[in-house]
Formats: sequence, structure tokens, C-alpha cells
Amino acid sequence: MADLAPVIAIDGPGGSGKGTIAMRLANRLGWRLLDSGALYRLVAVAALDRGIEANDGVALAQLAAGLDAAFGVGDGGMVVRLEGRDITARLRSEQVSAFSSKAAAFPDVRAALVGLQRGFRKPPGLVADGRDMGTVIFPDARLKIFLTASAEARAERRLKQLKEKGENVNLPRLFREIKKRDERDRSRAVSPLIPAPDAHLIDSTELSIDEVVHKVLKLLEESGISS
Ligand code: C5P
Repeated sequence: MADLAPVIAIDGPGGSGKGTIAMRLANRLGWRLLDSGALYRLVAVAALDRGIEANDGVALAQLAAGLDAAFGVGDGGMVVRLEGRDITARLRSEQVSAFSSKAAAFPDVRAALVGLQRGFRKPPGLVADGRDMGTVIFPDARLKIFLTASAEARAERRLKQLKEKGENVNLPRLFREIKKRDERDRSRAVSPLIPAPDAHLIDSTELSIDEVVHKVLKLLEESGISS
């Protein structure tokens, strides 16, 4: 393990800001970025396109095992391709959010994505965000952050994001969806959303993105990983 590239694991519920924080850190350090939620979302998009139901664990695991995904950077940020098609715009829709969280509860779906996720670990380092980065995928991560925020704050952030993308959503419905997804992510038998024992907890409810980045950078400094 000693000669493996270092990993910073950032876990937490949806809307806690972990994706934005992970991207900022990766840019700053010049490290690779793994948005592990995007992989579960890709499984959801592939399943929806093929008419596979969210309760068909066997078919979903097969899809996950053969996932033909590519990540790139375009003018507007990350570009995600599934079987060569740009599906970036669909990735964050509420339909895909709900489906991906159901698919992620199947142990065989999770197992099928482990190798793909660990493959992102390359020098000079990796910033990985998700639900089980610090507990299951990279238990030897050099720094583990567990980022939370109140469900209200997360729903409001999500509303803003989705509105900017032109999706027709309302706050009470988003709030209910977020609570449902939290409950599913926390209570599943395999890789539930829980902080690793050695994770640093940060509550971002009252903090700006800059303030959270600042806190993580301080922890980085203290942990001896230079930026
Ligand atoms: O992080 P994001 O909201 O994009 O993740 C979408 C869904 O994928 C989550 O609701 C969660 O159920 C699942 N997920 C997971 N493990 C991860 C990342 C995401 O179970 N490491």
C-alpha cells in the first residue's frame, strides 16, 4: 500500500457540497478526481434507456460490470459519456438521482464498480467523493472528510442547481426526495452512508464553499500532504 498514490476521501449526503469541494481540491493539487456518484448515475441512465427496472438487481449488476463510460472536461465543466454518447445533461436529473440511489443498494452493483473506482488512483494523487470512499473503496486514504449539511440547506442548494439547468422542481418535493434518498443511503446493508472512524466531520450548513475549502486545506496541511 505504501507506494500507492495518496487519496483524499470526501464522503457525505447529496447536496453537502462534496462534489464542488472535491473538484476545487483536485484542481488545486493537480490530482485526479473521482466523482463516484456519477458511476451509479451512469448505471441508472443505462438502465432507464434499456427499460430495466430499479428492483432488478441482477440486470443492474450486469450493466454496472460492463459500464462503458468516459469522463472528460468540456467548456462547461465535466463531460460524461456513456457508450460514446454525451449524457452529461441527464446525469443530475431527479429521475436519475432517485434511480441511482435504488441501484446503489444492491451489493452486486456496488461490487461491480469497485475495480473501476480503484483504477482512478494514480500519481500524483486522487480526490474521491461519494458515500463509501473512506470506509470501503479507499480505507487507507491519507485524509478523510465527512461533509454534512442540514436537509433544508441541501434541498435549497439542489433547487438552485436544478433551476440553473432549467429543470422544473419545487422545494417541498426536493426536500422529501432528499430525505428519502438519505434514508435509503444510510440504512442499506452494504456500504451505508456513515463516517469512517478516522474521518474529520465538517458541517457546511452555515459555511460558504470557500470556507469549507479553507478548512479542508488546513486539515491537509496538518496531515502533511502539501498543496
Ligand atoms: O453523489 P451523488 O448524489 O451523485 O450519488 C448518486 C447516488 O449514488 C447516491 O444517492 C447514492 O445512493 C449512490 N452512491 C453510493 N456510493 C457512492 C456514491 C454514490 O451509493 N460512493
